[in-house]
Amino acid sequence: MHATTTETHAETHAETHTGTHTCAGCLDRRQLLQRAGAVTAVAAGVAVLAACGGSSGGSSATPGADGSLAKVADIPVGGALAATDADGNKILLIQATAGVVTAVSAICTHQGCTVAPGKGALVCPCHGSTFDLTGAVTHDPATEPLPTVAVHVKDGAVFSGAA
Ligand code: FES
Repeated sequence: MHATTTETHAETHAETHTGTHTCAGCLDRRQLLQRAGAVTAVAAGVAVLAACGGSSGGSSATPGADGSLAKVADIPVGGALAATDADGNKILLIQATAGVVTAVSAICTHQGCTVAPGKGALVCPCHGSTFDLTGAVTHDPATEPLPTVAVHVKDGAVFSGAA
């Protein structure tokens, strides 16, 4: 018995590959690093801008000026109200004319007692000095006026510092 097996395996491989590979979206390592640097620089720039952006607030730098000292409605027209400014100093808020608020130091220029609101005047309880609503002396022994304190009104409330 003869058995002859002849296998022929014909394989046709007709693959055509140009070997050229282009990728528009691909970056080599160098390009990648350059881009990363640019992104970092932009991010840093944004951070600098952000840091500069938030501090353009009010003209007064008085610490604690974010809280009001009193409501305008609480200050008698033609009179005064004792208060404490943002620095903790005793002051008198004065509303000589409705809606117009001024302030003076409440420390008597005679010997330093605390001046209190009176009827249309400011009165020192220690030795009887009196002041008008501008802080000017109207009765001795004080001879110097009460120093003016800067305040401003915003939304019906009084704040330390100039407007
Ligand atoms: S301390 Fe005010 S009158 Fe003397």
